[in-house]
Amino acid sequence: MAILYGKELSDQIREEIRQEIQHYPEPPGLAVILIGEDPASQVYVRNKKKACEEVGIASYSYSLPSDIPEDNLLSIIQHLNGNQNVHGILVQLPLPEHIRESRVIEAISWLKDVDGFHPYNVARLFSANPGLVPCTPLGVMGLLERNSIPIAGRHAVIVGSSYIVGKPLSLLLLNKGATVTVCHKYTKELAYVTREGDILISAVGKSGLITRDMVKPGAVVIDIGISFKEGKTVGDVDFDNVLDKVSYITPVPGGVGPLTVTMLLKNTLTAYKLQVSAQPSAFSQINREG
Ligand code: GUN
Repeated sequence: MAILYGKELSDQIREEIRQEIQHYPEPPGLAVILIGEDPASQVYVRNKKKACEEVGIASYSYSLPSDIPEDNLLSIIQHLNGNQNVHGILVQLPLPEHIRESRVIEAISWLKDVDGFHPYNVARLFSANPGLVPCTPLGVMGLLERNSIPIAGRHAVIVGSSYIVGKPLSLLLLNKGATVTVCHKYTKELAYVTREGDILISAVGKSGLITRDMVKPGAVVIDIGISFKEGKTVGDVDFDNVLDKVSYITPVPGGVGPLTVTMLLKNTLTAYKLQVSAQPSAFSQINREG
């Protein structure tokens, strides 16, 4: 049994990014837009900005009021699309109710879509020719591949079908030859399905969801869930009781989490290369992780 700590791999990839940026004539730029004052979102945005500074990415922050009209937000995005110092644009989710997520996502130029949520990038992933790929799924693929964990021919069971994690991850794993099952809140007999997973991934945000009896002996267990229990950050998996049954497992915190922000940095670099030098190889850079 091995615990997969994302921090070490994350540090290694960030160092690779930092060194690569040193050879660039100008820093890649990332614009981060936060709407409203949700405390969790504020923390995430602060972490992203700090990570940018550490590797030499210029970050531009926009903190907008929660009652900003949708059209004003869209015109800010249009300006950023045309700003040559900005290579990546991230609008922190969730958005206030009066703003339509799809309109915001589609307003961002696909070349600057470092979240990988734009329909063009989604379609590229669908057709096994990925462009910019969502950060958390990219982090999971990095963790599996850099630890030489085989994917082809294995049954991957994903619990959670969001477009941020579950769906894109299912396509990345499918593209690498896994047999993929995606479960969600309507799935009947969840334990019956999860027990089939050679690779079991949970991305729900419900502590204690994945118990010992739901895990196949020797499985690779990747926990992407985040929730808060008695003041602590916890995952979906009953880690202590599952530990001796698996071949690999990620802790929460300290597993996939650090890699998510690292992949945002990597996507910013990829977006930069696409825009500045129009290198045809830019996408193969991210394919190494996904
Ligand atoms: N909120 C939670 N996860 C994410 C993410 O991956 N991207 C953005 N933009 N917002 C989020």
